[in-house]
Amino acid sequence: MPRVKTGIEELDEMLKGGFMEGDAVILAGSAGTGKTTLALQYLVNGVKLGEGGVYVTFEQLPSQIYRDAENFGWNLRKLEEDKKFRIVCTSPDLLLNADGEHILDEVIKEIQPSRIVVDSLSHLAMYVDEKEMRKEAYRIIMYLKTRGLSSMFIWETPQIVGQTFSVTDLGMSFLVDAIVMLRLVEVESSMRKALAILKMRGSDHDKRLREFDITPQGIRVSTPFTGYEGVMTGSPRKVARLTAKDLAKKGLLKKR
Ligand SMILES: Nc1ncnc2c1ncn2[C@@H]1O[C@H](COP(=O)(O)OP(=O)(O)OP(=O)(O)O)[C@@H](O)[C@H]1O
Ligand SMILES: [Mg+2]
Repeated sequence: MPRVKTGIEELDEMLKGGFMEGDAVILAGSAGTGKTTLALQYLVNGVKLGEGGVYVTFEQLPSQIYRDAENFGWNLRKLEEDKKFRIVCTSPDLLLNADGEHILDEVIKEIQPSRIVVDSLSHLAMYVDEKEMRKEAYRIIMYLKTRGLSSMFIWETPQIVGQTFSVTDLGMSFLVDAIVMLRLVEVESSMRKALAILKMRGSDHDKRLREFDITPQGIRVSTPFTGYEGVMTGSPRKVARLTAKDLAKKGLLKKR
């Protein structure tokens, strides 16, 4: 089964090679955790592999996206000139009615993308009745799947730290094939970032929480959070690892 590489080496490792082709993925996380950065990096790396990409945004103006991407060394304007990439800045209600499909149809015809990012599904949810949201999201996911696109939907989770994470709101998690979660974790009085793969249909994946950073080159995933428990809650505790020597010092180890 061919894999869709994110181009972020450690993340691809966690995904056992990458996302499955044609899958719909949710990238969830609270404000400022790096969702947009990761999504753009996924598209830019796709272009490097010869896979065109489309970035649909309801949230930011293109000028801001070009500027922010430039900071990571990604020249999106150049990619657009080469017809390998396109930013579609639209309003959620346009994407929800038939006009939206026309907009995307045209872009898909021109760019022939393999990857598409929608930033964000939560924004779309604000325009739709809660009961209708699952149906609408399903319709968009199927529209992209039937065109052979691998899709990534950004989902903004309200919690910053302290609460457990949930993408089960609105039943969205059942609609997608994979969920990647970004979250802030408070470790010894400093804010750190953790990434985890919550689900991936039809594939094995890394079950551990890994630390990541936003560097001038983009997202970099590092080692798993070892030696802590409760990382998912956002306020982990260090797990004491007492050696025989420590135990002896505390008088807990019986003398032979
Ligand atoms: N050039 C850069 N180098 C290093 N870190 C950066 C750079 N630009 C942004 N960041 C970091 O990335 C964070 C924002 O990333 P990003 O916009 O991808 O997050 P987001 O999850 O999409 O946020 P939002 O919820 O506001 O849409 C900033 O808070 C900052 O810490
Ligand atoms: Mg964003």
